Amino acid sequence: MTSAPLQAIRGTRDIWGTEIRLWQYLEQHARDILGRANYQEIRTPLFEATELFQRGIGEGTDIVSKEMYTFTDRGERSLTLRPEGTAGVVRSLIEHKRLSQGVQRCWYQGAMFRYERPQAGRQRQFHQLGVEVFGSEDPRVDVEVMAVALEFLQALGIPNLTLELNSVGDPADRQRYKAALVEYLTPYAADLDPDSQVRLTKNPLRILDSKDPATQAILRTAPLLPQYLGKAAQQHFEQVQEGLQALGLAYELNPRLVRGLDYYTRTAFEITTQDLGAQSAVGGGGRYDHLVEELGGTATPAVGWAMGLERLVVLLQKQGEPPAPELDIYVVSQGAGTATLSLQISQMLRGHGLRVEMDVSQSSLGKQIKRADKLGSKACVIVGETEVTTGQIPVKWLATGVQEIVTFPNGFRDATFWQKNFR
Ligand code: HAM
Repeated sequence: MTSAPLQAIRGTRDIWGTEIRLWQYLEQHARDILGRANYQEIRTPLFEATELFQRGIGEGTDIVSKEMYTFTDRGERSLTLRPEGTAGVVRSLIEHKRLSQGVQRCWYQGAMFRYERPQAGRQRQFHQLGVEVFGSEDPRVDVEVMAVALEFLQALGIPNLTLELNSVGDPADRQRYKAALVEYLTPYAADLDPDSQVRLTKNPLRILDSKDPATQAILRTAPLLPQYLGKAAQQHFEQVQEGLQALGLAYELNPRLVRGLDYYTRTAFEITTQDLGAQSAVGGGGRYDHLVEELGGTATPAVGWAMGLERLVVLLQKQGEPPAPELDIYVVSQGAGTATLSLQISQMLRGHGLRVEMDVSQSSLGKQIKRADKLGSKACVIVGETEVTTGQIPVKWLATGVQEIVTFPNGFRDATFWQKNFR
């Protein structure tokens, strides 16, 4: 019986070749920029109790109601592959009692899972880079996290980014707004798209996200959230804007921005670009002052964001491929006794910090040297039978064809010689 060839699951992909270098570059860049702002990395599990996301993200959201990878394990527990990073980080900080230890600045990076319809820039397994800051209501923290996000993107040289900003207010403000929105939309209920009709009773704020033209036309004259902010949220919103202005960071107010997760309070933002097609959000985040309490911790204000790394990779690819790391030495060998010597030489050269590959093809020396050329190696160490007896090993510089003799083992132990020639 022949079976179909195995393939990566729809909505997942392999990352390799030239693309992996962009990922490594992004990861290093994240470590540098977030490290400079003194954020500490945290790694939480890929799966958690399903309840964490139900309570954290909200039952009425698309993520929880239709996008989670939920399964029962062999111990009959309901588990879910994390659809986002925030809930897990909050769970961790509560569990390890870190929230009573003053302001905590964290960052994370890793795979997230959502059962969405895959398309360009949207996958079922995707990767986020995120930050979360706990323990301060100060609007300067909102400004700081947005500034760090923009600095991260600008240092990558990504053009045409827009910071969209809104305040979704405190819970009471949002309740009043929800009531006003439902009151406004109810007479139009029959004209809304089917999803929005369901949301009218389940999660009316999400209607603001509808892409349906008829629904959008109805929304044009709908009441706007910022008109319903209480005094405290209003003042906070103004201070956030003053902070952004003080740093010279441009933003656009978007009174319809509500975000797809229920935990937000006050500041909500997204960083968007026209360069990604339909999936315009490079990242998004905001404040979530009640999530810690809702998940069983002592009330702790918090703010953060996450970006989609696949989307950043697409934007970076538009700027061209990153240079490949250069191979310093290719070790070729043929004949009796050369196998051991080539192993020893490769090991010694790597010990000097050089990038070294050993040929194991057992093909002719000529073919092996051609391979060294093809790989772009700077030099080739040639180990033949005579060299095993004499210990006089040729090193050929491939750009010039010049060859010099190095004595084994002392010449290969001489770090200064190798580093001088290769660094
Ligand atoms: P989110 O807006 O759901 O927020 O996701 C953040 C970013 O992840 C999006 O802007 C997008 O770039 C990327 N993303 C989301 N879904 C996919 C997908 N299916 N395929 C590819 N990329 C995707 C959050 O997840 C919040 N936890 C952010 C946050 C942190 N808020 C406060 N702290």
